[in-house]
Amino acid sequence: MRTQVAIIGAGPAGLLLSHLLAARGIDSVVLETRSQEYVLARIRAGILEQSSVDVLRSAGLAERLDAEAMPHRGIHLQWPGERHQLDFVDLVGRRVFVYGQTEVTKDLVGAREKDGQELIYGISETAVHDIDTARPSVSFVDAAGNSQRLEADVIAGCDGSFGPSRHAIPESVRTSWDRTYPYAWLGVLADVAPSTDELIYAWHPDGFAMHSMRSHEVSRFYLQVRPDEDIAEWSDDRIWDALADRLGAGIDWTLATGPITEKSVLPMRSHVSSPMRHGNLFLAGDAAHIVPPTGAKGLNLAIADVSLLAPALADLLAGDSRRADAYSETALRRVWRCTHFSWWMTTMLHASGDPFDAQLQLSQLQWVVGSEAGSAGLAENYAGIPLALD
Ligand code: FAD
Ligand code: PHB
Repeated sequence: MRTQVAIIGAGPAGLLLSHLLAARGIDSVVLETRSQEYVLARIRAGILEQSSVDVLRSAGLAERLDAEAMPHRGIHLQWPGERHQLDFVDLVGRRVFVYGQTEVTKDLVGAREKDGQELIYGISETAVHDIDTARPSVSFVDAAGNSQRLEADVIAGCDGSFGPSRHAIPESVRTSWDRTYPYAWLGVLADVAPSTDELIYAWHPDGFAMHSMRSHEVSRFYLQVRPDEDIAEWSDDRIWDALADRLGAGIDWTLATGPITEKSVLPMRSHVSSPMRHGNLFLAGDAAHIVPPTGAKGLNLAIADVSLLAPALADLLAGDSRRADAYSETALRRVWRCTHFSWWMTTMLHASGDPFDAQLQLSQLQWVVGSEAGSAGLAENYAGIPLALD
């Protein structure tokens, strides 16, 4: 098999990249280990930055998003006794949108299938070869058990945090930075109308809590728990009690409850791998970097990476390597901004058990909501730095 761009991974990065390349007349094949049903059902991120929506709109992918996404002017930040709204539109002129990654994925798969994109699901033993040469390739075993090789001009590693692409960059030229956090999130999806107009990020001595949503009928919640938390210890009643305590502390407010349809424990870590390009292998999204979810940046960074990568690869295949040569450095500048912001939100909002930390966190929260500079700094990062559309 031969194509121009071999894309490993049918997550948001890989699917959007194939779409943006097709719009530039470039052929690609997308290779994915999971089944299509699994890819379409995954529950992950929920918030799109204004700039991500702009990318999806300009790529003709926003018909359902424009009809169904819930635009939010900002978020609520709270701690016991106080809840404050930060209005991003007033502060920095940009908003965010509630639209689940599951929906983004459905829109992308639908658009790619309509275009006749080759998407190969259920593969195994993915391996990347000859990235230092003009004829790189990907070998794999297809769902029927046959060994295959896909040759390409370039390979895009969009295979998330556990994929093989990152490891194909030799250790001698690769640097990575890691931070693991001493807590995790218990994520809960419930069939109940949100009890809030906009997301609530709550500091609480028992641990962070968040109220998010997926629609007018479905709410999403998170509770800070231990990384080794046994989910069996969290009955639905215990979850609702903890959410009501942490989200309602000292505030006259009622949390509506309903049937819980999904719960899982999510580990939290930061990771950056550099460079994001080696020879004819380019990395995008979680394949190159992971952020803890507190800043809602993971999905948005994946979209930002491929909106840089698609025009860079189009130029490269037409003989102009300048943007491809600059890709890693340009992408990493945004990656590090989001890595810092996600770390900052995470450390400001999660209880460490240390009373000195708690006082510093409360002081910082008071400054963020009380100072226009503090509020605008959070708003600018959360709503996302505008992307140049190409
Ligand atoms: P992925 O979505 O991970 O896609 C990578 C794809 O590559 C997958 O489909 C995978 O199956 C495939 N793949 C892996 N290995 C191979 C291989 N060897 N060969 C072929 N294909 C392969 N972010 C937020 O902002 N908010 C959240 O609440 C949030 N929650 C999350 C919950 C979970 C459980 C996880 C894992 C992530 C969460 N994230 C969240 C992060 C966000 O979902 C990711 O940043 C986003 O999915 C990145 O997109 P991606 O396309 O780079 O990677
Ligand atoms: C979500 O809705 O899943 C979500 C929202 C905001 C975050 C993280 C997750 O910061």
